[in-house]
Amino acid sequence: MITVDLDKARKELESGGIIALPTETVYGLAGNALDEDAVGKIFSTKKRPHYNPLIVHIKSADYLPQVARDIPDVAYHLARSFWPGPLTLVLKKQPNIPDAVTSGKDTVAVRVPDHPLTLELLEQLDFPLAAPSANPFGSISPTSAAHVEKYFGDTLPVILDGGECRKGIESTIIGFEGERPVVFRMGSLSLEEIMEKVGEISFNTKSVDQQPSAPGMLLRHYAPVTDTYLTEDVRGLVTLHPDKKIGLLLFQEKIKGIKAANQEVLSPTGDLEEAAHNLYAAMHRLDSLDLDMIIAERFPDHGLGKTINDKLERATHRDEAN
Ligand code: TXA
Ligand code: MG
Repeated sequence: MITVDLDKARKELESGGIIALPTETVYGLAGNALDEDAVGKIFSTKKRPHYNPLIVHIKSADYLPQVARDIPDVAYHLARSFWPGPLTLVLKKQPNIPDAVTSGKDTVAVRVPDHPLTLELLEQLDFPLAAPSANPFGSISPTSAAHVEKYFGDTLPVILDGGECRKGIESTIIGFEGERPVVFRMGSLSLEEIMEKVGEISFNTKSVDQQPSAPGMLLRHYAPVTDTYLTEDVRGLVTLHPDKKIGLLLFQEKIKGIKAANQEVLSPTGDLEEAAHNLYAAMHRLDSLDLDMIIAERFPDHGLGKTINDKLERATHRDEAN
């Protein structure tokens, strides 16, 4: 049920239940991170494979040593720079974090979310919250309470309504090789912003979304049900399919003089932050129109444009099943 009743949310969590809650990135499906049963409910509700670990949400960086150990200085520097905010750090875990949360890894992913309701809730609780995005495994992440209700309406007693997510795309995930930060997942915090603080960083996207134990399994992710294509030449691709009912996902402007059932423009002013904020909501809308195909335009390859292209590439990957 969609509600703004913080007390009800707290009681549900304290009695071992799970709820949906808002963050600045996407909505999360949250439970007590220290309670294996609650964590189990998250995995079963999401139908998430057990090898894919969860992010632990804490109330402030001061709480970090309670969930992580051997924390590199550079991790503290990043935490101080960007928390609360859309940055997740992968660190060595403390023994009290259950294996169910980390999928048996000796590392834990942790962040401080930047949403007043959820920060207030964390303040009232005496445990951290494990929370993946509140969507069934493999589908588009929710950026509003209504999206969560569409997915899990009957099964969740509390969907805490915090409005539309300000950022609209998941957090950026950074791990460490010694003191060296490594990118595990592109997200709402641009790589440029991170590099301003720590210098050049390397990539290790394989370690998060493509588990070595299941090669390629997670390449297709954040995906609409409708067949989706990514191209630099939207007009060209549309004209190749004259008989299809097509929806378009565009950066700045509509394409004139073509036959398309629906055209979603993500930022008329060309603002990549705004485009990121609007991306998933537009995908949800197009996906509900019963189209034959969705064609997305490739975004500029800098700032959050890189993140948007990464998400669109995953949405269009159709060789892999999951
Ligand atoms: O913005 C976000 O991060 C949202 C909100 C709710 O906080 N959460 C989110 O969670 O996107 P989820 O579960 O959809 O994605 C978590 C990602 C997964 O790709 C998982 O593999 C990775 O974090 N992850 C979690 N723990 C990890 C670890 N110990 N090592 C490497 N990757 C990890
Ligand atoms: Mg997710």
